[in-house]
Amino acid sequence: MPDPIRIQFVCLGNICRSPLAKAAFRDKVESAGLEEHFEIASSGTGSWHIGDTADDRMRATAQRNGLSLEDHRASQFEAEDLEQFDHIFVMDKSNLNDVLHLDENDEHGGKVRLFREFDPEPDDYQVPDPYHGGRKGFENVYDIVDRTADMLLHRLVDEYDLEEHIEERGSVGEEG
Ligand code: 4NP
Repeated sequence: MPDPIRIQFVCLGNICRSPLAKAAFRDKVESAGLEEHFEIASSGTGSWHIGDTADDRMRATAQRNGLSLEDHRASQFEAEDLEQFDHIFVMDKSNLNDVLHLDENDEHGGKVRLFREFDPEPDDYQVPDPYHGGRKGFENVYDIVDRTADMLLHRLVDEYDLEEHIEERGSVGEEG
C-alpha cells in the first residue's frame, strides 16, 4: 500500500467551512471504499477557536444532510503543514494569502489551491464565510462544499490512478 494522499482543508476559524469540507470529502471517500488511500485534515488560519467544537449552525446543517461534525475540534494551520500535506485546499482568497505567507521559502505554493477551482459552478472561486449570516448561508455552504468535494474526489481518483481501487458503497461513479 503506498503512502496515503495527505489532504488538508483550510478556512479562517476551522469551525464552519473546512470542518464541513473535511466531513463531506471523507464521506465521499468512504462511499468509494478509498479510505486507506487518504489522510484528511482541516484547520483554520486564525487561532481564536483552537479546541472549540464546530459552530452549532454548521453542525445542524451537516446533520440535516447526513454528515456528523460531532468529533471535530478546531486547530490552527501551521507552517509545517505545508511540508506534511500533499494538497492544501483553502476556502477563500484571504485563506490563500495567509497560508502562502507561511511558505517563507516559496517551496510549497504548488500544493495550495482554492477548493472551488474544482466546483463546476465556481462563481468567484471562494466559499463564502457564513459565520456572521443566517441559516441560508450555511445551507449555501453545504451545497457548494458537497458538489465541489465530489468533483475533487473524481479529479484525485484520475490523478492518482485510483479507479481500480474503488469499491462502490455509494455515490462516486454512479450515473444520474
Ligand atoms: P470558518 O468561519 O472560517 O468557516 O470557520 C468563521 C468562524 C469564526 C470566525 C470567522 C469565520 N470568527 O471571526 O471568529
